[in-house]
Formats: sequence, C-alpha cells, structure tokens
Amino acid sequence: MIVPTYNEKDNLDELVQRINSSCSKAGIECEIVIVDDNSPDGTGAKAEELAKSARMKVLHREGKLGLSSAVLEGFKVASGSVLVVMDADLSHPPEKIPEMVSKIESGEAELVVGSRYIKGGSVENWPLRRKAVSKGATFLARWLTKVKDPMSGFFALSRSVIDGVALNPVGYKIGLEILVKGKYEKAAEVPIHFADRKAGKSKLGGTEMLRYIDHVSMLYEHKHLWLGKYLKFAFIGGIGALINLAVLWVSHEVFFVHYLWAAVLAFVVADTNNYIWNRLWTFKSKGKIHFQYPQFLLVSVDGLMLNLILLWALVEEVFPGLGVRMDKASVMLIVAQVLAIFTVSLFNFFANSIWTFGGDMRKA
Ligand code: GDD
Ligand code: MN
Repeated sequence: MIVPTYNEKDNLDELVQRINSSCSKAGIECEIVIVDDNSPDGTGAKAEELAKSARMKVLHREGKLGLSSAVLEGFKVASGSVLVVMDADLSHPPEKIPEMVSKIESGEAELVVGSRYIKGGSVENWPLRRKAVSKGATFLARWLTKVKDPMSGFFALSRSVIDGVALNPVGYKIGLEILVKGKYEKAAEVPIHFADRKAGKSKLGGTEMLRYIDHVSMLYEHKHLWLGKYLKFAFIGGIGALINLAVLWVSHEVFFVHYLWAAVLAFVVADTNNYIWNRLWTFKSKGKIHFQYPQFLLVSVDGLMLNLILLWALVEEVFPGLGVRMDKASVMLIVAQVLAIFTVSLFNFFANSIWTFGGDMRKA
C-alpha cells in the first residue's frame, strides 16, 4: 500500500486501522508505505509512531516534491509484488482493497482502478465546479485509455506493469501515466464511493489544471497522436480569443480607435500571443523568428478567409439543403460558426505544423 501524504496527520490513525483490518479479514499480507513530504503538521512523526506497532515503512522527503513522484518513490521501497496506491484522506475506501487485489492475483487483470464513474461508483457532495473539472479532465483522456475513471488516485497493479518503464512524475495523475505507458494486457475497474476527505484540505489547485493539460498532451504525443499538440494549440487559441476581445474593447472604448481598426489591432495582438506560446510550448521550436512570425500571421489570415467561406457555405448551402431554416433558428448561426471555428483550427494547426514549424520538426 503506497500512501503519499502531505498534512494528513489527523487521518493516519483511522487510515492505518482500516487498511489493516480490511487486509487481515481477506487474508492479505500487507505492508504500508507512507511517503511524506516533510508535512508541516507533523504527519511524518505521527507515521513513525504508528510504524512501531504496524507493518509500515515511512519515507521522509525533504519538502513538497509532488504527489506523483512520491508514489514512484514508494514503489521503489515497497516489497510486495502487488502495489496499491491510495490517498491518505479516507476518500478511498480501504474496504475495496481485497476486491482489487484479488483481480490481480486471479490473473483477471494486471491493473485495477477504483472507479467513481462505472455502475455502482459515486462521489460524495462534490460542488458543481469540482464535478465539471473532473469530467472535463476525464474527457480529455478519452482517447488514451478505455478505463472510465483514469483520473482516479486509487489503483492496484502488478509490479510487472511498471518494470523497466520510464514514468514521468509530472502533476497529479500518476495513475493515468501508468495506464498509458504501463505494460499490461488487461485493466479492470472496481466501483468505489469517493468520500469527502475527513480532515485537512485538498492540495489540488489551479496550477494543477495547467500541468494536467501539459501532461495529457505529452501522453498523446507518447502514443504518437497529433491530438496532443492540437490540444495545446486549441487551448492557446482559446486564450487568444479572449485577448482579442479585450484588446478590441479597450482600444475602442478607452482609446476611441475606430472599431474596424480596433479589430485589426486585436487580431494582430492576439495572433502574436498565439505565435509566441505555440513556438515556446506546443512546438518547442528554435527556428528563425523572422520567417516564422509572418508565416504564422499569414496562416491565420488564410484561416480567417476559410472561416468566412465555411460559414457562408454552411448557412447558405448546407443547412437549407438539410431542410434547416435559418430564420427559424438563429441558433443555427452559432452552430455553423462553431463548426467553422473547429475546422479552421484544424487547418491552422496543420498548416503551422507542416509549414511554419515544419522545418524544425523534420530535424527533430
Ligand atoms: N507526499 C506528497 N507530496 N503527498 C501529496 C502531495 C505532495 O506534494 N500532494 C498531495 N499529496 C497527498 C495528499 O496528502 C493525499 O493523501 C493525496 O496525495 C491526494 O491529495 P488531495 O489533496 O486529497 O487530492 P484531491 O482529493 O484533490 O485529489 C484526489 O482525487 C482525485 C480524483 O478526483 C487524488 O487522488 C487525485 O489523484 C485524483 O485524481
Ligand atoms: Mn482528497
């Protein structure tokens, strides 16, 4: 049992007691490995105290080095051939450990995920925001794995799954990392009820979300799917759209620039922003800026034309052909523009991948 901890002192007693009673009832020999990042609340000392009377190893790291790397270090010192990872805050039911372990021991699967999103699984009291974030994150991983809850922090695996596999400890989602890169034939899911943490507070913040996008796109790239880079490109494009609106508004309302000139300025500023971030982040390019930057702008201008043509074709030709009347539902205009924007973003993405940043990629 690998349990990463950061400020979980008040959860340890119950956690250790429930893990041990669940395992001993099922006849599972269990070793608990606590990986603590020098928690200011004294979790480390508390764990040492518990280790006197339970089969337990305590790893102390010098500071908050992250959840994923804590799990990976736990794997190294654990002595079992079946590894189980769970949070310390009692969100994950220790009572499910035997069911997960038995699927591995029977050979039914080499990797078992405690899942909130299959029949019988559930989440307790999550505010809408957290639900939406979780579902959104899960959606982004859709094409990486068939598992329904790849974000879960509760999972069991046979050691052979990660033997000799280079795992990247970025962000919170070490389970997803293992699902994508691990060596296994079958993965299974066991439904769990995800409870509210008993004490303390969650360490998952806004920067984790950005890191997650970075992580997911690396995993897509690992699978050789262009989707990884496209995800970054589309994310930057979304931010660019907000910048466009902000510049348009400020230059027109505050500096009284004519709205059409304001729109041109907004386009150039937003597109420059998009270029910079795509160069640094999406394509990690070292090519010559004085070629790339105008190329990037040119692709965007072409994209804008394409947008107008597509919008026109959908509204005038395609929708009437399908029997959709525009005057009845102006919602269709938005639908048409969404389709057009999506297509244009693919066009821009591929044009920039192949042309603007292409020289670089061929060298790499
Ligand atoms: N050693 C160490 N270092 N442990 C950490 C660190 C760290 O930097 N950050 C968090 N932990 C520990 C916590 O003490 C807890 O035991 C566990 O990792 C999960 O942290 P929480 O702060 O409780 O995370 P969460 O509840 O927001 O997220 C959990 O649920 C998500 C599902 O929505 C995690 O299990 C995620 O992996 C999971 O995706
Ligand atoms: Mn938690």
